[in-house]
Amino acid sequence: MQSKFPSEFLWGGATAANQLEGAYNEDGKGLSVQDVLPKGMLVPRTEAPTPDNMKLVGIDFYHRYKEDIKLFAEMGFKVFRLSIAWSRIYPNGDELTPNEKGLAFYDAVFDECIKYGIEPLVTLSHYEMPLHLSKTYDGWKNRKMITFYERYVRTVFERYHTKVKYWLTFNEINSILHEPFMSGGIYTPKDQLTRQELYQAIHHELVASALATKVGHEINPDMKIGCMVLAMPVYPLSPDPEDVLKALELDRSNLLFSDVHVRGEYPAYAKRLFREQGIVLDITDEDRKILTHTVDFISFSYYMSICQTANPQSTASKTNIFPGIKNPHLKESEWGWQIDPKGLRYVLNTLYDRYQKPLFIVENGLGAIDQLVKDEKGNFTVEDDYRISYLNDHLVQVSEAIEDGVEVMGYTTWGCIDLVSASTAELKKRYGFIYVDRHDDGTGSLERYRKKSFYWYQEVIRTNGNSLKLMEAYNG
Ligand code: BG6
Repeated sequence: MQSKFPSEFLWGGATAANQLEGAYNEDGKGLSVQDVLPKGMLVPRTEAPTPDNMKLVGIDFYHRYKEDIKLFAEMGFKVFRLSIAWSRIYPNGDELTPNEKGLAFYDAVFDECIKYGIEPLVTLSHYEMPLHLSKTYDGWKNRKMITFYERYVRTVFERYHTKVKYWLTFNEINSILHEPFMSGGIYTPKDQLTRQELYQAIHHELVASALATKVGHEINPDMKIGCMVLAMPVYPLSPDPEDVLKALELDRSNLLFSDVHVRGEYPAYAKRLFREQGIVLDITDEDRKILTHTVDFISFSYYMSICQTANPQSTASKTNIFPGIKNPHLKESEWGWQIDPKGLRYVLNTLYDRYQKPLFIVENGLGAIDQLVKDEKGNFTVEDDYRISYLNDHLVQVSEAIEDGVEVMGYTTWGCIDLVSASTAELKKRYGFIYVDRHDDGTGSLERYRKKSFYWYQEVIRTNGNSLKLMEAYNG
Protein backbone atom coordinates (compact mmCIF):
# COMPACT_ATOMS: atom_id res chain seq x y z
CA MET A 1 0.00 0.00 0.00
CA GLN A 2 1.25 3.50 -0.77
CA SER A 3 1.87 5.04 2.65
CA LYS A 4 0.12 8.27 3.62
CA PHE A 5 1.85 8.44 7.00
CA PRO A 6 4.07 11.49 7.51
CA SER A 7 7.77 10.77 8.07
CA GLU A 8 7.64 12.04 11.66
CA PHE A 9 4.66 9.76 12.53
CA LEU A 10 5.02 8.39 16.06
CA TRP A 11 4.63 4.61 15.89
CA GLY A 12 4.60 2.72 19.15
CA GLY A 13 2.72 0.94 21.88
CA ALA A 14 0.78 1.80 25.03
CA THR A 15 0.57 0.51 28.61
CA ALA A 16 -0.48 1.63 32.09
CA ALA A 17 1.49 1.25 35.33
CA ASN A 18 -1.16 -0.69 37.24
CA GLN A 19 -1.53 -3.24 34.44
CA LEU A 20 2.11 -4.15 33.97
CA GLU A 21 4.47 -2.92 36.70
CA GLY A 22 3.53 -5.24 39.57
CA ALA A 23 5.69 -4.51 42.67
CA TYR A 24 2.54 -3.03 44.15
CA ASN A 25 4.07 -2.42 47.57
CA GLU A 26 7.78 -2.06 46.78
CA ASP A 27 10.09 0.90 47.39
CA GLY A 28 7.51 2.88 49.32
CA LYS A 29 4.62 2.61 46.88
CA GLY A 30 1.21 3.18 48.45
CA LEU A 31 -1.94 1.29 47.49
CA SER A 32 -3.98 2.49 44.54
CA VAL A 33 -7.64 1.91 43.73
CA GLN A 34 -6.52 -0.92 41.42
CA ASP A 35 -5.06 -2.90 44.28
CA VAL A 36 -8.58 -3.51 45.59
CA LEU A 37 -10.15 -4.39 42.23
CA PRO A 38 -9.10 -8.04 41.80
CA LYS A 39 -11.66 -8.78 39.12
CA GLY A 40 -11.64 -5.47 37.30
CA MET A 41 -14.36 -2.91 37.00
CA LEU A 42 -17.33 -5.20 36.60
CA VAL A 43 -17.09 -6.80 40.07
CA PRO A 44 -17.15 -4.98 43.44
CA ARG A 45 -13.90 -3.93 45.10
CA THR A 46 -12.38 -5.68 48.12
CA GLU A 47 -11.39 -4.12 51.43
CA ALA A 48 -7.67 -4.83 50.98
CA PRO A 49 -5.44 -6.37 48.27
CA THR A 50 -6.15 -10.08 47.74
CA PRO A 51 -3.69 -12.63 46.27
CA ASP A 52 -5.95 -13.32 43.26
CA ASN A 53 -5.39 -9.74 42.04
CA MET A 54 -3.19 -10.22 38.96
CA LYS A 55 -2.16 -6.57 39.05
CA LEU A 56 -0.12 -7.00 42.23
CA VAL A 57 2.54 -8.77 40.16
CA GLY A 58 1.40 -7.57 36.74
CA ILE A 59 4.01 -8.72 34.24
CA ASP A 60 6.76 -7.55 36.60
CA PHE A 61 7.76 -4.64 34.37
CA TYR A 62 9.10 -2.99 37.53
CA HIS A 63 12.01 -5.41 37.48
CA ARG A 64 12.10 -6.24 33.75
CA TYR A 65 11.68 -2.85 32.08
CA LYS A 66 15.12 -2.99 30.47
CA GLU A 67 14.36 -6.24 28.68
CA ASP A 68 10.92 -4.96 27.60
CA ILE A 69 12.09 -1.59 26.31
CA LYS A 70 14.85 -3.40 24.38
CA LEU A 71 12.16 -5.46 22.66
CA PHE A 72 10.15 -2.31 21.86
CA ALA A 73 13.31 -0.83 20.34
CA GLU A 74 13.80 -3.99 18.29
CA MET A 75 10.32 -3.42 16.81
CA GLY A 76 11.42 0.12 15.95
CA PHE A 77 9.13 2.01 18.37
CA LYS A 78 9.39 5.77 18.10
CA VAL A 79 7.18 6.28 21.16
CA PHE A 80 6.23 4.29 24.23
CA ARG A 81 3.12 5.23 26.20
CA LEU A 82 3.26 4.44 29.89
CA SER A 83 1.76 5.93 33.02
CA ILE A 84 3.31 7.04 36.27
CA ALA A 85 1.72 5.33 39.27
CA TRP A 86 0.73 8.35 41.37
CA SER A 87 1.00 6.19 44.50
CA ARG A 88 4.73 5.54 43.83
CA ILE A 89 5.36 9.29 43.93
CA TYR A 90 2.89 10.26 46.67
CA PRO A 91 1.98 6.96 48.39
CA ASN A 92 -1.07 8.41 50.13
CA GLY A 93 -1.58 11.32 47.76
CA ASP A 94 -1.83 14.05 50.40
CA GLU A 95 1.78 14.15 51.64
CA LEU A 96 3.88 17.26 51.16
CA THR A 97 7.04 15.52 49.95
CA PRO A 98 7.40 12.85 47.29
CA ASN A 99 8.89 9.38 47.54
CA GLU A 100 12.37 9.59 46.03
CA LYS A 101 12.51 5.89 45.21
CA GLY A 102 9.40 6.18 43.07
CA LEU A 103 10.84 9.17 41.22
CA ALA A 104 14.14 7.34 40.67
CA PHE A 105 12.33 4.39 39.10
CA TYR A 106 10.76 6.51 36.36
CA ASP A 107 14.07 8.32 35.78
CA ALA A 108 15.56 4.93 35.01
CA VAL A 109 12.67 3.93 32.73
CA PHE A 110 12.79 7.21 30.78
CA ASP A 111 16.59 6.97 30.45
CA GLU A 112 16.19 3.50 29.02
CA CYS A 113 13.68 4.78 26.43
CA ILE A 114 15.92 7.70 25.51
CA LYS A 115 18.89 5.33 25.10
CA TYR A 116 17.00 3.78 22.14
CA GLY A 117 15.62 7.04 20.78
CA ILE A 118 12.10 6.22 22.00
CA GLU A 119 9.95 9.19 23.12
CA PRO A 120 8.08 8.45 26.34
CA LEU A 121 4.42 9.47 26.20
CA VAL A 122 3.30 9.71 29.79
CA THR A 123 -0.20 9.48 31.26
CA LEU A 124 -0.24 11.30 34.58
CA SER A 125 -3.19 9.36 35.92
CA HIS A 126 -4.38 6.09 34.43
CA TYR A 127 -7.08 4.60 36.69
CA GLU A 128 -4.65 4.42 39.61
CA MET A 129 -5.48 7.10 42.17
CA PRO A 130 -3.87 6.52 45.60
CA LEU A 131 -6.44 4.54 47.57
CA HIS A 132 -6.09 6.87 50.55
CA LEU A 133 -7.37 9.81 48.47
CA SER A 134 -10.32 7.74 47.43
CA LYS A 135 -11.21 6.57 50.93
CA THR A 136 -10.50 9.78 52.78
CA TYR A 137 -11.68 12.42 50.32
CA ASP A 138 -14.06 10.44 48.06
CA GLY A 139 -11.81 11.07 45.08
CA TRP A 140 -12.75 13.76 42.58
CA LYS A 141 -15.96 14.54 44.43
CA ASN A 142 -13.76 16.62 46.67
CA ARG A 143 -12.32 19.96 45.49
CA LYS A 144 -9.20 19.37 47.58
CA MET A 145 -8.19 16.79 44.96
CA ILE A 146 -7.20 19.64 42.64
CA THR A 147 -4.46 20.65 45.09
CA PHE A 148 -3.19 17.08 45.55
CA TYR A 149 -3.11 16.47 41.81
CA GLU A 150 -1.39 19.79 41.16
CA ARG A 151 1.31 18.93 43.68
CA TYR A 152 1.86 15.56 42.05
CA VAL A 153 2.01 16.86 38.47
CA ARG A 154 4.28 19.75 39.44
CA THR A 155 6.67 17.26 41.03
CA VAL A 156 6.85 15.03 37.98
CA PHE A 157 6.94 17.86 35.44
CA GLU A 158 9.83 19.50 37.32
CA ARG A 159 11.66 16.21 37.57
CA TYR A 160 11.20 14.91 34.03
CA HIS A 161 10.57 17.89 31.75
CA THR A 162 13.90 17.45 29.98
CA LYS A 163 13.23 13.75 29.36
CA VAL A 164 9.52 13.68 28.54
CA LYS A 165 7.94 15.91 25.92
CA TYR A 166 4.48 14.32 25.52
CA TRP A 167 2.01 14.14 28.42
CA LEU A 168 -1.64 13.13 28.92
CA THR A 169 -3.48 14.45 31.93
CA PHE A 170 -6.05 11.67 32.64
CA ASN A 171 -6.69 8.37 30.93
CA GLU A 172 -10.15 8.21 29.32
CA ILE A 173 -11.39 11.06 31.49
CA ASN A 174 -14.99 10.53 30.29
CA SER A 175 -15.06 6.98 31.66
CA ILE A 176 -15.88 8.48 35.07
CA LEU A 177 -19.47 8.56 33.76
CA HIS A 178 -19.58 4.76 33.98
CA GLU A 179 -16.77 3.89 36.41
CA PRO A 180 -16.70 6.54 39.13
CA PHE A 181 -14.47 4.46 41.43
CA MET A 182 -11.86 3.14 39.01
CA SER A 183 -11.73 6.27 36.92
CA GLY A 184 -12.51 8.98 39.47
CA GLY A 185 -11.59 7.39 42.79
CA ILE A 186 -15.12 8.10 44.05
CA TYR A 187 -15.59 5.77 47.00
CA THR A 188 -19.32 6.43 47.30
CA PRO A 189 -21.02 3.43 45.68
CA LYS A 190 -22.12 4.10 42.13
CA ASP A 191 -25.82 3.54 42.88
CA GLN A 192 -25.74 6.16 45.65
CA LEU A 193 -23.94 8.82 43.63
CA THR A 194 -26.20 11.64 42.44
CA ARG A 195 -25.87 13.27 39.01
CA GLN A 196 -25.08 16.51 40.84
CA GLU A 197 -22.17 14.88 42.70
CA LEU A 198 -20.92 13.12 39.59
CA TYR A 199 -20.85 16.27 37.47
CA GLN A 200 -19.25 18.28 40.27
CA ALA A 201 -16.53 15.61 40.42
CA ILE A 202 -16.14 15.86 36.64
CA HIS A 203 -15.81 19.61 36.97
CA HIS A 204 -13.03 19.26 39.56
CA GLU A 205 -11.20 16.85 37.30
CA LEU A 206 -11.56 19.12 34.26
CA VAL A 207 -10.17 22.04 36.26
CA ALA A 208 -7.29 19.85 37.50
CA SER A 209 -6.55 18.79 33.93
CA ALA A 210 -6.43 22.40 32.69
CA LEU A 211 -4.28 23.32 35.68
CA ALA A 212 -1.82 20.57 34.73
CA THR A 213 -1.62 22.03 31.22
CA LYS A 214 -1.01 25.50 32.65
CA VAL A 215 1.65 24.34 35.11
CA GLY A 216 3.35 22.13 32.52
CA HIS A 217 3.62 24.94 30.00
CA GLU A 218 5.02 27.27 32.66
CA ILE A 219 7.68 24.73 33.62
CA ASN A 220 8.66 23.96 30.04
CA PRO A 221 6.84 25.56 27.10
CA ASP A 222 8.21 22.86 24.79
CA MET A 223 6.15 20.18 26.49
CA LYS A 224 3.07 19.02 24.57
CA ILE A 225 0.16 18.27 26.85
CA GLY A 226 -2.97 16.53 25.69
CA CYS A 227 -6.25 15.26 27.02
CA MET A 228 -7.20 11.60 26.63
CA VAL A 229 -10.74 10.49 25.96
CA LEU A 230 -12.47 7.21 25.28
CA ALA A 231 -13.70 7.69 21.72
CA MET A 232 -16.74 5.68 20.81
CA PRO A 233 -18.76 6.94 17.86
CA VAL A 234 -22.49 6.56 18.33
CA TYR A 235 -24.46 5.61 15.22
CA PRO A 236 -28.25 5.87 15.10
CA LEU A 237 -29.70 2.34 14.95
CA SER A 238 -32.04 3.48 12.17
CA PRO A 239 -32.59 6.64 10.06
CA ASP A 240 -35.55 7.54 12.30
CA PRO A 241 -34.84 11.17 13.35
CA GLU A 242 -35.64 10.17 16.93
CA ASP A 243 -32.77 7.67 16.80
CA VAL A 244 -30.49 10.26 15.23
CA LEU A 245 -31.15 12.73 18.04
CA LYS A 246 -30.72 10.04 20.69
CA ALA A 247 -27.36 9.14 19.16
CA LEU A 248 -26.33 12.81 19.18
CA GLU A 249 -27.24 13.04 22.86
CA LEU A 250 -25.11 10.03 23.81
CA ASP A 251 -22.23 11.25 21.67
CA ARG A 252 -22.33 14.62 23.38
CA SER A 253 -22.17 13.06 26.84
CA ASN A 254 -18.63 12.02 25.83
CA LEU A 255 -17.76 15.00 23.68
CA LEU A 256 -18.39 17.38 26.57
CA PHE A 257 -14.99 16.35 27.96
CA SER A 258 -12.97 17.13 24.84
CA ASP A 259 -15.04 20.26 24.23
CA VAL A 260 -14.00 21.71 27.59
CA HIS A 261 -10.35 20.69 27.11
CA VAL A 262 -10.12 22.20 23.64
CA ARG A 263 -12.42 25.23 23.89
CA GLY A 264 -11.63 26.19 27.47
CA GLU A 265 -15.28 26.43 28.53
CA TYR A 266 -18.42 24.33 28.73
CA PRO A 267 -20.23 23.88 25.40
CA ALA A 268 -23.62 25.53 24.80
CA TYR A 269 -25.49 22.21 24.99
CA ALA A 270 -24.24 21.66 28.56
CA LYS A 271 -26.65 24.31 29.87
CA ARG A 272 -29.70 22.28 28.91
CA LEU A 273 -28.09 19.00 29.95
CA PHE A 274 -27.43 20.38 33.43
CA ARG A 275 -30.77 22.20 33.76
CA GLU A 276 -32.83 19.15 32.82
CA GLN A 277 -30.98 16.97 35.30
CA GLY A 278 -31.16 19.54 38.08
CA ILE A 279 -27.39 19.97 38.16
CA VAL A 280 -26.03 23.25 39.50
CA LEU A 281 -22.26 23.30 39.42
CA ASP A 282 -20.03 25.16 41.80
CA ILE A 283 -17.76 26.93 39.28
CA THR A 284 -15.58 29.70 40.69
CA ASP A 285 -14.12 32.63 38.72
CA GLU A 286 -10.73 31.07 39.29
CA ASP A 287 -12.00 27.78 37.79
CA ARG A 288 -13.14 29.62 34.67
CA LYS A 289 -9.71 31.22 34.27
CA ILE A 290 -7.93 27.88 34.68
CA LEU A 291 -10.16 26.18 32.12
CA THR A 292 -8.90 28.58 29.45
CA HIS A 293 -5.57 26.72 29.48
CA THR A 294 -6.39 24.41 26.61
CA VAL A 295 -4.58 21.31 25.40
CA ASP A 296 -1.98 21.06 22.64
CA PHE A 297 -3.51 17.93 21.15
CA ILE A 298 -6.31 15.45 21.66
CA SER A 299 -5.53 11.83 22.28
CA PHE A 300 -8.01 9.01 22.43
CA SER A 301 -8.54 5.30 22.73
CA TYR A 302 -10.60 3.56 20.09
CA TYR A 303 -11.94 0.03 20.38
CA MET A 304 -15.50 0.13 19.13
CA SER A 305 -18.49 2.07 17.92
CA ILE A 306 -21.98 1.65 19.34
CA CYS A 307 -25.54 2.28 18.20
CA GLN A 308 -28.36 4.10 19.92
CA THR A 309 -32.13 4.05 19.56
CA ALA A 310 -34.97 6.08 21.02
CA ASN A 311 -37.22 3.04 21.00
CA PRO A 312 -37.51 1.60 24.53
CA GLN A 313 -39.12 -1.54 23.07
CA SER A 314 -36.17 -2.26 20.78
CA THR A 315 -35.10 -5.89 20.98
CA ALA A 316 -31.61 -5.18 19.56
CA SER A 317 -28.84 -6.61 21.79
CA LYS A 318 -27.09 -4.28 24.15
CA THR A 319 -23.32 -3.84 24.27
CA ASN A 320 -21.73 -5.59 27.24
CA ILE A 321 -19.55 -2.83 28.58
CA PHE A 322 -20.89 0.64 27.79
CA PRO A 323 -24.46 1.81 27.35
CA GLY A 324 -25.32 1.27 23.71
CA ILE A 325 -26.70 -1.18 21.22
CA LYS A 326 -24.89 -3.65 18.99
CA ASN A 327 -24.47 -2.93 15.33
CA PRO A 328 -25.94 -5.73 13.16
CA HIS A 329 -23.30 -5.06 10.48
CA LEU A 330 -20.25 -5.77 12.62
CA LYS A 331 -18.43 -8.81 13.99
CA GLU A 332 -17.12 -8.90 17.51
CA SER A 333 -14.09 -10.04 19.52
CA GLU A 334 -14.13 -12.99 21.94
CA TRP A 335 -15.04 -10.44 24.61
CA GLY A 336 -18.02 -9.12 22.65
CA TRP A 337 -16.37 -5.85 21.58
CA GLN A 338 -17.57 -4.98 18.10
CA ILE A 339 -14.86 -4.48 15.50
CA ASP A 340 -15.24 -1.42 13.30
CA PRO A 341 -12.06 -0.20 11.56
CA LYS A 342 -14.00 2.41 9.55
CA GLY A 343 -15.27 3.81 12.82
CA LEU A 344 -11.69 4.90 13.47
CA ARG A 345 -11.59 6.91 10.24
CA TYR A 346 -14.96 8.36 11.20
CA VAL A 347 -13.76 9.35 14.69
CA LEU A 348 -10.59 10.93 13.33
CA ASN A 349 -12.59 12.96 10.84
CA THR A 350 -15.31 14.08 13.21
CA LEU A 351 -12.85 15.11 15.93
CA TYR A 352 -10.71 17.00 13.44
CA ASP A 353 -13.74 18.71 11.89
CA ARG A 354 -14.80 19.76 15.37
CA TYR A 355 -11.46 20.99 16.73
CA GLN A 356 -8.79 21.30 14.01
CA LYS A 357 -6.21 20.14 16.56
CA PRO A 358 -3.63 17.37 16.16
CA LEU A 359 -4.95 13.95 17.11
CA PHE A 360 -3.05 11.06 18.66
CA ILE A 361 -4.47 7.51 18.71
CA VAL A 362 -3.02 6.26 21.97
CA GLU A 363 -4.96 2.99 22.30
CA ASN A 364 -6.35 0.50 19.82
CA GLY A 365 -6.00 -3.24 19.70
CA LEU A 366 -7.54 -6.67 19.91
CA GLY A 367 -7.85 -8.57 23.19
CA ALA A 368 -7.76 -12.27 22.28
CA ILE A 369 -6.84 -15.71 23.58
CA ASP A 370 -3.38 -16.64 22.29
CA GLN A 371 -1.80 -20.07 21.95
CA LEU A 372 1.92 -20.39 22.52
CA VAL A 373 3.40 -22.77 19.93
CA LYS A 374 6.84 -23.70 18.59
CA ASP A 375 7.91 -22.37 15.19
CA GLU A 376 9.96 -24.34 12.66
CA LYS A 377 13.20 -23.25 14.38
CA GLY A 378 11.90 -24.52 17.70
CA ASN A 379 11.29 -21.06 19.20
CA PHE A 380 8.11 -20.28 21.09
CA THR A 381 5.76 -17.89 19.32
CA VAL A 382 2.07 -17.10 18.73
CA GLU A 383 0.55 -17.27 15.23
CA ASP A 384 -1.69 -14.27 15.79
CA ASP A 385 -2.91 -13.56 12.27
CA TYR A 386 -6.24 -12.35 13.75
CA ARG A 387 -4.38 -9.56 15.57
CA ILE A 388 -2.42 -8.65 12.45
CA SER A 389 -5.69 -8.39 10.44
CA TYR A 390 -7.31 -6.26 13.11
CA LEU A 391 -4.41 -3.82 13.37
CA ASN A 392 -3.81 -3.75 9.63
CA ASP A 393 -7.42 -2.84 8.92
CA HIS A 394 -7.47 -0.10 11.53
CA LEU A 395 -4.21 1.36 10.26
CA VAL A 396 -5.50 1.39 6.70
CA GLN A 397 -8.34 3.56 7.98
CA VAL A 398 -5.87 5.85 9.77
CA SER A 399 -4.08 6.24 6.48
CA GLU A 400 -7.41 7.09 4.79
CA ALA A 401 -8.10 9.72 7.44
CA ILE A 402 -4.67 11.24 6.84
CA GLU A 403 -5.58 11.35 3.16
CA ASP A 404 -8.85 13.06 4.20
CA GLY A 405 -6.67 15.81 5.66
CA VAL A 406 -6.68 14.85 9.34
CA GLU A 407 -3.53 15.70 11.32
CA VAL A 408 -2.55 12.47 13.12
CA MET A 409 0.53 12.60 15.35
CA GLY A 410 0.91 8.91 16.02
CA TYR A 411 -0.51 5.55 16.90
CA THR A 412 0.24 3.45 19.95
CA THR A 413 -1.36 0.00 20.03
CA TRP A 414 -2.85 -0.96 23.35
CA GLY A 415 -0.97 -3.49 25.42
CA CYS A 416 2.05 -3.74 23.11
CA ILE A 417 3.23 -6.39 25.56
CA ASP A 418 0.66 -8.70 27.21
CA LEU A 419 -0.63 -7.19 30.44
CA VAL A 420 -3.52 -7.46 32.87
CA SER A 421 -6.84 -6.32 31.42
CA ALA A 422 -8.59 -3.32 32.96
CA SER A 423 -12.22 -4.37 32.67
CA THR A 424 -11.85 -7.98 33.86
CA ALA A 425 -8.31 -8.09 35.38
CA GLU A 426 -7.49 -11.17 33.29
CA LEU A 427 -4.24 -12.11 31.64
CA LYS A 428 -5.82 -14.44 29.15
CA LYS A 429 -7.19 -11.41 27.32
CA ARG A 430 -3.96 -10.62 25.49
CA TYR A 431 -3.20 -7.62 23.29
CA GLY A 432 0.56 -7.77 22.90
CA PHE A 433 3.16 -8.23 20.18
CA ILE A 434 5.10 -9.89 22.98
CA TYR A 435 3.69 -12.90 24.79
CA VAL A 436 4.25 -13.00 28.55
CA ASP A 437 4.20 -16.40 30.19
CA ARG A 438 1.83 -15.62 33.03
CA HIS A 439 -1.64 -17.00 33.64
CA ASP A 440 -4.75 -16.13 35.59
CA ASP A 441 -4.02 -18.79 38.23
CA GLY A 442 -0.76 -16.99 39.00
CA THR A 443 1.48 -19.57 37.30
CA GLY A 444 4.05 -18.85 34.59
CA SER A 445 7.74 -18.05 34.24
CA LEU A 446 7.15 -14.41 33.15
CA GLU A 447 9.38 -15.13 30.15
CA ARG A 448 8.75 -12.99 27.07
CA TYR A 449 8.28 -14.40 23.52
CA ARG A 450 7.92 -12.56 20.20
CA LYS A 451 4.59 -13.23 18.47
CA LYS A 452 4.14 -13.24 14.67
CA SER A 453 2.62 -9.76 15.00
CA PHE A 454 5.95 -8.57 16.50
CA TYR A 455 7.67 -9.01 13.15
CA TRP A 456 4.63 -7.69 11.29
CA TYR A 457 4.62 -4.42 13.29
CA GLN A 458 8.39 -4.12 12.93
CA GLU A 459 7.89 -4.14 9.17
CA VAL A 460 5.00 -1.64 9.32
CA ILE A 461 7.21 0.76 11.25
CA ARG A 462 10.28 0.15 9.07
CA THR A 463 8.29 0.92 5.91
CA ASN A 464 6.29 3.74 7.54
CA GLY A 465 3.07 1.96 6.68
CA ASN A 466 3.94 0.86 3.13
CA SER A 467 3.71 -2.79 4.12
CA LEU A 468 0.03 -2.48 5.14
CA LYS A 469 -2.38 -4.44 2.98
CA LEU A 470 -5.76 -3.34 1.73
CA MET A 471 -7.57 -6.27 3.31
CA GLU A 472 -10.64 -5.98 5.44
CA ALA A 473 -10.77 -9.25 7.27
CA TYR A 474 -12.73 -7.89 10.23
CA ASN A 475 -14.79 -5.26 8.55
CA GLY A 476 -18.36 -6.39 8.08
C1 BG6 B 1 -8.96 1.19 27.91
C2 BG6 B 1 -8.08 1.44 29.10
O1 BG6 B 1 -10.28 1.46 28.25
O2 BG6 B 1 -9.08 -0.09 27.42
C3 BG6 B 1 -7.00 0.40 29.31
O3 BG6 B 1 -7.50 2.71 29.03
C4 BG6 B 1 -7.57 -0.96 29.03
O4 BG6 B 1 -6.50 0.54 30.61
C5 BG6 B 1 -8.02 -1.01 27.59
O5 BG6 B 1 -6.71 -2.00 29.33
C6 BG6 B 1 -8.54 -2.37 27.13
O6 BG6 B 1 -9.50 -2.81 28.00
P1 BG6 B 1 -9.41 -4.24 28.67
O7 BG6 B 1 -10.50 -4.31 29.63
O8 BG6 B 1 -9.52 -5.23 27.57
O9 BG6 B 1 -8.07 -4.31 29.32
